[in-house]
Amino acid sequence: MEHDTQARVRISRIAAHLNPRSDGFQNMEEYSGVYQLNCLAKGASPGFKVAILGAAGGIGQPLAMLMKMNPLVSVLHLYDVVNTPGVTADISHMDTGAVVRGFLGQQQLEDALTGMDLVIIPAGVPRKPGMTRDDLFNINAGIVRTLCEGIAKCCPNAIVNIISNPVNSTVPIAAEVFKKAGTYNPKCILGVTMLDVVRANTFVAEVLSLDPREIDTPVVGGHAGVTILPLLSQIKPPCSFTQQEIEYLTNRIQNGGTEVVEAKAGSGSATLSMAYAAVKFADACLRGLRGDANIIQCAYVASEVTELPFFASKVRLGRAGVEEIYPLGPLNEYERAGLEKAKKELAGSIQKGVSFVRK
Ligand SMILES: NC(=O)c1ccc[n+]([C@@H]2O[C@H](COP(=O)([O-])OP(=O)(O)OC[C@H]3O[C@@H](n4cnc5c(N)ncnc54)[C@H](O)[C@@H]3O)[C@@H](O)[C@H]2O)c1
Repeated sequence: MEHDTQARVRISRIAAHLNPRSDGFQNMEEYSGVYQLNCLAKGASPGFKVAILGAAGGIGQPLAMLMKMNPLVSVLHLYDVVNTPGVTADISHMDTGAVVRGFLGQQQLEDALTGMDLVIIPAGVPRKPGMTRDDLFNINAGIVRTLCEGIAKCCPNAIVNIISNPVNSTVPIAAEVFKKAGTYNPKCILGVTMLDVVRANTFVAEVLSLDPREIDTPVVGGHAGVTILPLLSQIKPPCSFTQQEIEYLTNRIQNGGTEVVEAKAGSGSATLSMAYAAVKFADACLRGLRGDANIIQCAYVASEVTELPFFASKVRLGRAGVEEIYPLGPLNEYERAGLEKAKKELAGSIQKGVSFVRK
């Protein structure tokens, strides 16, 4: 009898992998029931519980793969409104410690979020050639609001990494949602601007013929066009540039996203470099949560560094999330002019996000 049960479970498990169900929430529940048996058999390594919302997308899939490889992750929840059974089955075969579970559709959002330490949000639509990040506002604002309502209810103490564009507005949207729910903690909501830093390090290294891993470029402001402000005067190790190099680098860093959107010619925006950057940033958040010292990264957060309520700058990550926000440091004349332009555009984007929730 017991043998029969075991055989049935084994057969349904194989069937579920060969033919993942995507035809309804009930089926997905049955499917994830089978799935969890699989996960438990592997055993979870000690670590953090991480959810990716938008896990079946262009960023979500490689991000899920890289997070499954992260030894700090013990449980990985993959949530999307489409295709999570397939992505989950695929990722779950990787022989790393994290247990992977898939969740499909709004009805499973709360299960996906309950108990999470870190939630990463790459859900939403990406840019096509000719679009600005702000053109995505109408769709992505609603998606981020719904997902943050879920987080406020199910894991209000989680660190939230927001990737969905326009980041300059989606972070204020998230803050407003948490305020409404009475669970706002500005230390826990971080807009991911890491890709700007990753690009800056790469392009600077190219100009200087150095290894990009040796370069640390602060990028402040926000995450769109002129709001992306690389502080080339503060690069570590210190280096100097001609004015022509400064203009070339600033322009390329500010338009790195558009470079990819145009090269992809209608099939989306940066996904692979973004997944890399998101994992680099998420790993820093997890190391902070673990209590590691001196975890410093740039991020777009609630801030008093300027007169604006949100601003990207270097922050120190720790057990409480953002534990310290560093001032901008000395800027040269070119950077000061850039800062004024950035602030002007950022102010409008922040207001747009706040009004979206308050209206
Ligand atoms: N912060 C950055 O540096 C940065 C860089 C690149 C892209 N992005 C942004 O990331 C977002 C995702 O980009 P992508 O290329 O992965 O797009 P994509 O279209 O390939 O994937 C988005 C995924 O989100 C899912 N989704 C849509 N609505 C959802 C909802 N309500 N709940 C859960 N999931 C939902 C979709 O089903 C899809 O799988 C875009 O907004 C893009 O502009 C940000």
